[in-house]
Amino acid sequence: MNEKAEIGVIGMAVMGSNLARNLAHHGYRVALFNRSPERTDRVVTEHGAEGIFRPAHELPEFVASIERPRRIILMVKAGDATDATIDSLLPLLDPDDVIMDGGNSLFTDTIRREERVRAQGFHFVGCGISGGEVGALEGPAIMPGGTRESYQILGPVLEDISAHVANPDGSVDPCCAWMGPDGAGHFVKMIHNGIEYADMQVIGEAWMLLRGAGLSNSECADVFAEWNTGDLDSYLIQITAEVLRQADPRTGADLVDVIADRALMKGTGTWTVQTALDLSCPVNGIGEAVFARATSSHDDLRRVARAALRGPDGRVEVADRGAFVENVRRALWCAKVVSYSQGFDEIRTGGHKYGWNIKVADAARIWRDGCIIRARLLDRITQAYDADPDLVSFMCADSVAPELAANQQAWRDVVGLAATSGVPAPVFSATLAYYDSARAPRLNAALTQGMRDLFGSHSYERVDDEGSWHLNWSGDRNEERA
Ligand code: ATR
Repeated sequence: MNEKAEIGVIGMAVMGSNLARNLAHHGYRVALFNRSPERTDRVVTEHGAEGIFRPAHELPEFVASIERPRRIILMVKAGDATDATIDSLLPLLDPDDVIMDGGNSLFTDTIRREERVRAQGFHFVGCGISGGEVGALEGPAIMPGGTRESYQILGPVLEDISAHVANPDGSVDPCCAWMGPDGAGHFVKMIHNGIEYADMQVIGEAWMLLRGAGLSNSECADVFAEWNTGDLDSYLIQITAEVLRQADPRTGADLVDVIADRALMKGTGTWTVQTALDLSCPVNGIGEAVFARATSSHDDLRRVARAALRGPDGRVEVADRGAFVENVRRALWCAKVVSYSQGFDEIRTGGHKYGWNIKVADAARIWRDGCIIRARLLDRITQAYDADPDLVSFMCADSVAPELAANQQAWRDVVGLAATSGVPAPVFSATLAYYDSARAPRLNAALTQGMRDLFGSHSYERVDDEGSWHLNWSGDRNEERA
């Protein structure tokens, strides 16, 4: 009865309490602490019978109740609260204890915290957790970063409580793997969320196009449910059908028609794009998804634009509704492949830049279940990066490029129809532009370089010679080495 806890969780809000219960369900003795003790008490009152909990009202009591080396999971609000909690924990720890931050922290904060905690002789694990509150309780996807030693101490527990995927050969993989040193885990989680933004946005664009062509919400729900049985099989498509079928309990109207069309965000999508800009990594599908949410919430812009700007009204004229629905399905698949491809490119690029050597296939592997972007497509992405760990771009892999080629006409038709009908489809069209930019034999960048040399003597390179060159634009218009 007096055996020490095997692990401790600080932060008894929704995610923290659900993770603590998940640990208890797997047989771990779990120490609990929350800044306000009422929350700790409530977890024990409501769920105490689910496992062995060791609640504490004071932090020293909490720390002392955990066996060494201690494993302590922080599930507190990202930002200052995380720093404050780490500050109060550090004087209470012993060598080799592990603090894990399971919140949505910015990876650069994690790099800073890891260095500081490691310098004091402890381990710090920045760990992405995806799956929402149900995932935290029943098995999330878990993306830990930190020293290898820290993974030896904490990894087996995390693998235990994560979701698990059965492979075709009968083996089972946990949806948890070591992502790399310091900020790697939170970096990968950040990209997960960026991809999630793009995936949700393309689904939304498909819905608006179907609605524009005259399908009711319940007909759209049937279409998404049908799509969920094929290549598009994913959690997000599944819940799309569920949301579209739901009636408003107050009015009886379709719920989606009474939800205000202002999408909010907590920042991880924005971080994905800000980081991509720093890395010069063109994730324009994810970027458009973040901007689409910003546009939806820009009340002033929408008010003045509705009054000032004229154009088609969003009704989509289609001769053959069945053929149109199929085209939208194909376009959605292409835009999704490219959005995921961009996210994985950012993981690869960031992994190199920060020296993490992230195994990109492992990121895809652990997202196959438990997390919000779990999707059939991730099996293919895993296989592609297993076959070639340095794959430059998933969309160019032999296993997927021919399918994009086969579906591209539908994608082009849908983007064209969206434009002529006035249906905003920023991710459908941005991902197509990216696809065409990446494969173009020549880009307009040549003209850009010419202009930069003219107005700023920024020089240009030539297709037929080495080195940098400058044209004497204001003089004799001869060329010289820059
Ligand atoms: P959720 O899991 O619901 O998303 P969150 O907003 O990310 O929760 O985090 C809330 C948790 O952070 C709570 O446990 C909160 O403690 P209180 O219940 O005492 O408010 C904790 N938290 C927030 N600010 C904190 C701080 N400065 N120091 C310590 N814990 C803090």
